[in-house]
Amino acid sequence: MTNKRRILITSALPYANGDIHIGHMVEHLITDFWSRFQKMRGHECLAICADDTHGAPIMVEARRLGIKPEEQIASMHEKHIKDFADFDVIYDNYHTTHSPLNQQLCEEFYLKLRDNGHIEKRSIKQTYCEHDKMFLPDRFVKGTCPKCGATDQYGDSCDVCGSVYNPIEMKDARCTICGNTPIEKESEHHFCKLSNFADFLKEWVPKHTSEGVAKKLSEWLDNELQDWCLTRDEPYFGFEVPGAKGKYYYVWFDAPIGYIASTWDWCKKNNRNLDEFWRNDQAEIYHNIGKDIIYFHSLFWPVMLKNAGYTTPKEIFVHGMLTVNGEKLSKSKGTFINARTYLNHLDPSYLRYYMACKLNSGIADLDLNWEDFLSRVNSDLIGKITNIASRGAQMLQKRLDGKMGHLPKLGQELVSKAQAKSDLIASLYEERQFAKAILEIREIADQANKYFDEMTPWKLIKEDPEETKEVLTTILNLFRLVSIYLKPILPSYVAKVEELFGDQPYTWDDVHTIVEGRTLNSFSHLLQRVDVKKINAITEESIAEQEKRKASANQASSEQSPIEVDPVEPEIEIGDFAKIDLRVAKVSKAESVPKASKLLKLELDLGPLGKRTVFAGIKSAYEPAELEGSLVVVVANLKARKMKFGTSEGMVLAAGPGGKDIWVINPQEGSKPGMRIN
Ligand code: 2FM
Ligand code: ZN
Repeated sequence: MTNKRRILITSALPYANGDIHIGHMVEHLITDFWSRFQKMRGHECLAICADDTHGAPIMVEARRLGIKPEEQIASMHEKHIKDFADFDVIYDNYHTTHSPLNQQLCEEFYLKLRDNGHIEKRSIKQTYCEHDKMFLPDRFVKGTCPKCGATDQYGDSCDVCGSVYNPIEMKDARCTICGNTPIEKESEHHFCKLSNFADFLKEWVPKHTSEGVAKKLSEWLDNELQDWCLTRDEPYFGFEVPGAKGKYYYVWFDAPIGYIASTWDWCKKNNRNLDEFWRNDQAEIYHNIGKDIIYFHSLFWPVMLKNAGYTTPKEIFVHGMLTVNGEKLSKSKGTFINARTYLNHLDPSYLRYYMACKLNSGIADLDLNWEDFLSRVNSDLIGKITNIASRGAQMLQKRLDGKMGHLPKLGQELVSKAQAKSDLIASLYEERQFAKAILEIREIADQANKYFDEMTPWKLIKEDPEETKEVLTTILNLFRLVSIYLKPILPSYVAKVEELFGDQPYTWDDVHTIVEGRTLNSFSHLLQRVDVKKINAITEESIAEQEKRKASANQASSEQSPIEVDPVEPEIEIGDFAKIDLRVAKVSKAESVPKASKLLKLELDLGPLGKRTVFAGIKSAYEPAELEGSLVVVVANLKARKMKFGTSEGMVLAAGPGGKDIWVINPQEGSKPGMRIN
């Protein structure tokens, strides 16, 4: 191998306050496929990750559980490592951002920003809870939107009307931890003057991100870059800023530095120098991330690296988000599947293969459709690929002497053709076009099966055992090539193939060899078919876990604080209630409002009362199509409200804690549109 490259690839660091779920796995599998491929090619490739341990949510969660954040992150660390290992995802180092190495690096990065004149201190007003004695991040404040009156909105913007405001403007802002009303309090913070780096970023971004990502970023770059607030006030779980008592680095400052700290930890364990990777223009650094965190990795992070004299990434790989059966992961529907729940029922190789079949280098979302999963695994991986080995090896071992023969002429041609695909398949792996690589590999399997069927060895064996051996030798060689090509995706499966052939662990160059005259080791089943019952069991277990989680959160909140319980509104007279005109309505049309994160636009049929357009904040919980034709309850005499996206002529009743868990109230079937309810 000429030109041995020095490569480092990272996955985004998972938060330490939650389990690894199937949505995370997309990214960790991409990193694993790609780094295993690079290693097979003979390059040096470090796969680096860590837990992202700091921030307010982790501190609050540990408080709720009555433990120290350190205990909380330590137990998660073990779980995360085990989940990845059991999915065959190998990290050369899986570290934590809560480490002395990371703290030392944070200090270096911070001081370099400060000493180069890129930090400005100024006082800002923020929401503060006097009961919990902490400043509240936006997601810890909820209340009624000051513009449209929608209840239960986050402290920064309204999901219903889309307006942006200050939490203090909310009529009934409350702390989601304790339920009390927060106040506004002033405090000094440290800001990074990002605009000082505008020229650098304008040049850097298009060279190191894909075209689509660069386009998205140019919207930000063309406007003036806002200063970035690097600090948070105590209490905060993180590292204190040197020379600024009570101020902590914001978690998004220390998290990416964790990539370097994790590499440094590896270097110490392996007697290597960090500069070989992070201060070396010849080293290739890649960050593999989801499209939700592009901003942090493509603007802040290159600025931090450049200013501190470190190598900036060669490319940011960005992938889309996972959906299950076409919908966002939903806890109530059992599609929010923890990695461990999957592993309790199914072999990781299935998901690895399936994901590879669906993945390319774009940022489109990726769907795990269980029916498709079943068919790709059972008909392709088992029926087409694995079947070659069982047909070939079993006949050779049961009906002949278990020793391979020579490749016949036709066999040689087929094998050469499969070998000639090596560069193409390698370049597809390099570009993260895994789905295309799988197509090429599967074509070899198709050729092998076709050849086998045409040669009818089950008949031939009666007349010509030697020729039969040649046929079997051909398909076994083809299967061996398929396995070498598939090794980055199916390492455990291919380890069994290596054992069957008595081969050393395959490298990419092994595709240039053929196997003749060799006695195979005993054939063991490589992989079973997927049983649909197992898939159902995953969904059921996911729903049960969710119920358990909800129950324990409710119990904890009733024991420790009233958080989960919405405040009871002041009493009203029966006459007030009678003023509300609740009617049955049929959703005749539903569509999502593209620019509003939570809004669906509904066209409602109220029978004799006519049609209405209503904007409802239920996008996170419903696909428009599933609402069409259904009956809902609507407040029919609510004064029409002008909203950012149009006028809303009523309100649809729905309940639930939020996110995926919102349910519109369905009147009994058979109710007629327009019928009064109260
Ligand atoms: O979005 C997330 O899950 C973050 N924990 C990712 C951090 S990536 C890096 F910056 F550390
Ligand atoms: Zn509070």
